Order: sequence, then structure tokens, then C-alpha cells
Amino acid sequence: MHRELPHVAAMKHCLRLTLITLILTACRSAETTSEPAPQVTAPTMTDRAATEAARLRDIYAGPQSGWPAPHVDADVVHVELGRVDRPARATDPRAIARIELGQTLFFDARLSGTGQMACASCHDAELGWADGRATSFGHGFQPLPRNAPSLLNVAFGTSFFWDGRAASLEDQALAVFENANEMHSSMDAVLASVRSSRGYREQFKAAWNEDLPTLENTLRSIAAFERTLVSDGSSAFDDFLGGKRDALSDAAVRGLHLFRTEARCVNCHNGPLLTDGKFHDLGLSYYGRKLQDLGRYEVTRDPADVGRFKTPSLRNVMRTGPYMHNGLFDIDGVLNMYSAGMVTLKRKPEQADDPLFPTKSPHLKELGLDAQKKGDLAAFMDALTERRRRVRPPAMPALGDAGE
Ligand code: HEC
Ligand code: HEC
Repeated sequence: MHRELPHVAAMKHCLRLTLITLILTACRSAETTSEPAPQVTAPTMTDRAATEAARLRDIYAGPQSGWPAPHVDADVVHVELGRVDRPARATDPRAIARIELGQTLFFDARLSGTGQMACASCHDAELGWADGRATSFGHGFQPLPRNAPSLLNVAFGTSFFWDGRAASLEDQALAVFENANEMHSSMDAVLASVRSSRGYREQFKAAWNEDLPTLENTLRSIAAFERTLVSDGSSAFDDFLGGKRDALSDAAVRGLHLFRTEARCVNCHNGPLLTDGKFHDLGLSYYGRKLQDLGRYEVTRDPADVGRFKTPSLRNVMRTGPYMHNGLFDIDGVLNMYSAGMVTLKRKPEQADDPLFPTKSPHLKELGLDAQKKGDLAAFMDALTERRRRVRPPAMPALGDAGE
């Protein structure tokens, strides 16, 4: 049987392609009179996107001073994206003892009213320190009204909860212990438990040099542990910022640029943690409806705060879905809503003069992002994902053996 040698076949194939190309080019130059350099084939969407990514990669791999100006409104205090400064690891034995004690308390379900609920039940290391649910199951499996936020980087927070009602992590922990729906306990009961334990007493002695555990130091220990939950620089974005220019995919590079410019995300999600720490109304208050949550207004009673919620950090955000204070959205839903400029509530006739009617943030604009741009933004957020952490619950000291 006659078989063509491979290189002969290849040559014929080449010739055929060259011929086709020549004919195509000839046709095209016959059609057009103006003179753009003759191209063999029109660039496809994918080619254009790849060229754009290469151009952006050159810019963004360079010094931040050469990055394009962010698209932010005049009143925004813009902080550039960047790596998170990790506080130095504790070396002082007392500081280490405090963190360890805090971690034990964080995992100790016996401190809850039912004996079944620990902080770690709703803030799980493997779920990005959130709980993966729309809204958490509380005491007696009552769903809580809000989504459990991640605890990553709470060390840098200046107010806590979606509405910012706690001013410190210590206040926050106190509120949770006493919340009927969360730990469903009282600080008296918590204190009685730790004081009844020889193991806890030893830990309090090592951490705080006190013989009888106090409320203050219980809360401070939990806070000390929470402050160690800091971004570890293991995300692809951190690698990119550290000089690995190929650490981001093409889509993620385009997404980074969109995030800072056309999509306007940095109006609120800026700085190394991708949050301004402020409160904004995205139109999700469900004002006057069953799911109504007035957010910051519940704390300040200032009508301007109706429907405002704290901007969450987007570090590790792909691990902490579902999203928003009510946990009602997946990432596609979030991006579709931003693309549409979020929800605009319309006043009903009877609300014409309602002073509490919420006003959506002026930073939100209809963006009209196509599927590729939404995918690019998601790819950028994906590049903020950090190494998965497995935190083993520490051994629990026995309770009731302190002999008092
Ligand atoms: C039943 C689930 C549940 C338990 C148990 C729980 N939390 Fe939470 N946590 C939540 C929810 C839900 C929120 C948000 C509530 C809100 O904003 O009103 C929250 C918010 C927080 C925040 C605020 C984070 C931020 O960015 O503002 C911190 C810190 C926190 N919890 C720490 C703790 C600690 C410490 C414990 C244990 C003492 C604990 N949580 C127990 C569900 C839980
Ligand atoms: C006006 C300020 C503002 C702008 C602009 C903004 N965000 Fe947000 N973002 C927020 C606030 C506030 C929330 C929480 C809202 C809530 O729960 O009601 C949020 C929530 C999110 C969440 C959910 C995070 C979580 O843990 O639940 C994601 C994801 C997100 N934003 C991404 C983006 C992207 C991408 C853009 C740009 C397209 C953007 N944001 C633009 C303020 C803003």
C-alpha cells in the first residue's frame, strides 16, 4: 500500500494552508481601501483577551506607581491593594499561653448553654472561618438572621458584626456568649465552668498570672487567639505582588484591572484587605419586606445608615460563600447584581415622605459587564484564596475537678 511520507504530507498541508491564506488576504485587501496592516485572520475574542492580558500583565507586574489610576469617586479615600502585613509571631511565653488558652476556649462547646455550640461551630477553619451556610444554625437549631462572617484578619478590624455594633473583639465575644441564639449562655455560667477546671486554672495562671479566672481575661484570651488568624500571604495574588509575574492567570490579571477600574470595586474594597471598613447600602435591606434588616441603622439610629452593612474583606472570599449579610447569594449572583448596579428600591406611594427609606450607595453604577468580564472578576477573587488550614481542636481540660 502506498503511504505518503509524513513530511511530504505535512508539506502539502502547509502549501494548502498558504494558498488559502493568500487567497483570503487577496480578497480582504480587495475589499478594503484603507491600510491597516494586512492580517491573515481576524483576531478572535480569545486572541484579543490574551493580548489584553499580556499588556496588563506587563503593567501590573511593574511597580505600583505605574499602575493605572483607580476609578474611584472624589470622596473615596483610596488605599492601593497590596500584601497583608503579618504581625510577628508571638515568642513571649505568656503571649503564647494566652493564644493557646484562647484557642481552647474557642473550641470548647461545653461553655455554651446547650454544651453543643462552640465558636468553632460557626467559624470553621476549613470553611474560611465561616460556616458555609446562608445563615448559621443557632441554639436549638434556630437559624440566625445573618450569615457568619469569616474571622480571617479580624485582627485589623475596627468594628465587628455586619452592623459594626461591637467595638472590640472582647466586646464581640461577650455579646456572642450572652446571645440567646448563639452560645446561649451567661458569663457567670462560663466563668463557673472555667473556674471549676484545674486545667483551665493552670492555663489562666500561665497566661495571666491569676489564680481565679476572670471574665476580662477569658474574653481577652479568645481575642488573642482570633488576632492570630491573619492572611498568610499564600494566595496567587500575593505571589504576583511578590514578583512572580505568572502567578496570576490571564483571566485573573484582567479581573484585577477590572476590579480597580471599570467595575469600580475599589471604591469600597480597597487596601491590602480589600475593604474600607465602612458601611454602605447596596440595596439589600429588604426595606418593608419580610427579610428586612436595617443594618447599621439598628446601631446608630441615623436614618442615613438604613440598609448599610460593613464592607467585608475579600481575602479568601471564594471559601466563604454563600454571600452578603443574609447569605442569599452565590458568587454569580453577586456579580450579576453588581453588573446591574445592584437593587434599586422604589418608594411605594405610602413611602413618599418616609425618612427611613434607604438610599443606595452612589458608588454603585450600572456596569453592564459581559460574561467574560464577570468571569475575569471571579478569577481575580479566586486568586485571593489562601492555603487551606486545618486547625485541630486542642485537648479540652476536664471541668469540675478544681476541688472547690
Ligand atoms: C451559632 C453560630 C455562631 C456561633 C456559635 C458564634 N458565632 Fe460569631 N458570628 C456568627 C454570626 C451569624 C455573625 C454575624 C452576626 C451579625 O453581624 O449580626 C458572627 C460574627 C462574629 C464576629 C464578627 C466578625 C466581623 O468581621 O465583624 C466575630 C469576631 C465572631 N463572630 C467571633 C465569635 C466567637 C469568638 C464566638 C464564640 C465565643 C462566636 N463567634 C460564636 C455566628 C456564630
Ligand atoms: C459601595 C461600596 C461597594 C462597592 C462599589 C462594591 N462592594 Fe462588594 N460589598 C460591599 C458591602 C457593603 C458588602 C456587604 C453587603 C451586605 O451584606 O449587605 C459587599 C459584599 C461583597 C461580596 C460578598 C462578600 C461576603 O463575604 O459576603 C463580594 C464577593 C463583593 N462584595 C465583591 C465586590 C465586587 C467584585 C465589586 C465590584 C464589581 C464590589 N464588591 C463593589 C461594598 C461594595
